[in-house]
Amino acid sequence: APGGLVLGIETSCDETAAAVVAGGTRLLSNVVASQVEVHRRFGGVVPEIASRRHVEALLPVVRQALDDAGLELKDLDAVAVTQGPGLVGALLVGIAGAKALAYASGLPLVAVNHIEGHLYANRLEHPELEPPFLCLIASGGHTELLEVPAWGAYRRLGRTRDDAAGEAIDKIGRVLGLPYPAGAEMDRLAREGDPSAFPFPRALRGEGFDFSFSGLKTAALNEIRRLQARGPLPVADLAASFQEAVVGVLAEKALAAARAVGAGRIALAGGVAANSRLRELLAEAAAAEGRVLYVPRPAFCTDNAAMIAAAGWVRWQRGERAGLDLNAAPALSL
Ligand code: KG4
Ligand code: ZN
Repeated sequence: APGGLVLGIETSCDETAAAVVAGGTRLLSNVVASQVEVHRRFGGVVPEIASRRHVEALLPVVRQALDDAGLELKDLDAVAVTQGPGLVGALLVGIAGAKALAYASGLPLVAVNHIEGHLYANRLEHPELEPPFLCLIASGGHTELLEVPAWGAYRRLGRTRDDAAGEAIDKIGRVLGLPYPAGAEMDRLAREGDPSAFPFPRALRGEGFDFSFSGLKTAALNEIRRLQARGPLPVADLAASFQEAVVGVLAEKALAAARAVGAGRIALAGGVAANSRLRELLAEAAAAEGRVLYVPRPAFCTDNAAMIAAAGWVRWQRGERAGLDLNAAPALSL
């Protein structure tokens, strides 16, 4: 097995995370300190609070990741950190911490793109997965369809033009009275409802590989307001119908993209990839066309540092190094 012990650090949003991965695929430790309880009462992430929490949590989380792996900083080969995209103040905490650790230990520093990181959750879960493959990344911040011709190389086929899939789910979930973030609860509730109860619009259907969820969001909001005036909301039917519209389009476009580029393998990533209906729809449709679907376990789908370490390992191996002048890139794209 190839060597290379990489410490990954991730602070782009509301999870303070550190992990140690060997050889880009073997997980030695994976620590995530979630702030979700803190932000829940605001119905979303409050950037200023997130930064402060990262400052408090970062070093204990790194310490824990090293302890769990049974390693000291000096045993490692590199420190990989999320450079962006994400909240600038949150990113800066992880970057400052990673720089300090790298400087103090003499280890090389490697910068990782968070979206690229999500993709590597698949490599952690399925070490046998090799490019080329197609990857659908859907989370609270991103919705992207990528072609991966080789590790470390990406071609974007499509992206959202407005809201991310998870962002739309969280907004409608909030109106339905679900706790933030709403994805997991909507997933559960949708199983009790009728996905065809409300025929919500599906934008850009059959029109390339871009996504748009804002029209769907508005249509759902209007329907919810109309129903609210009449009595108790049919919450399960609304959740099921809304979720079906979101994940239906995701699944349809991922398959169409796989056909277009001739991808025999489709990988899912990002928090929304934890959605059971999306997994079910894609598993069936992919199998019917003889394509193989790869899905990471839910803990690898949502934000974590193992995926950052795995992505960082590829860059480290290629000799990519970041300087101590590394800055956060809140709008970094792939
Ligand atoms: O990847 P992630 O943890 O953070 C970002 O990089 O954004 O994704 C979080 C998103 C949230 O919008 C959350 O509601 C959604 O993933 N999510 C789900 C499920 N679990 C988490 N969406 C649908 N179904 C789920 N089971
Ligand atoms: Zn993410």
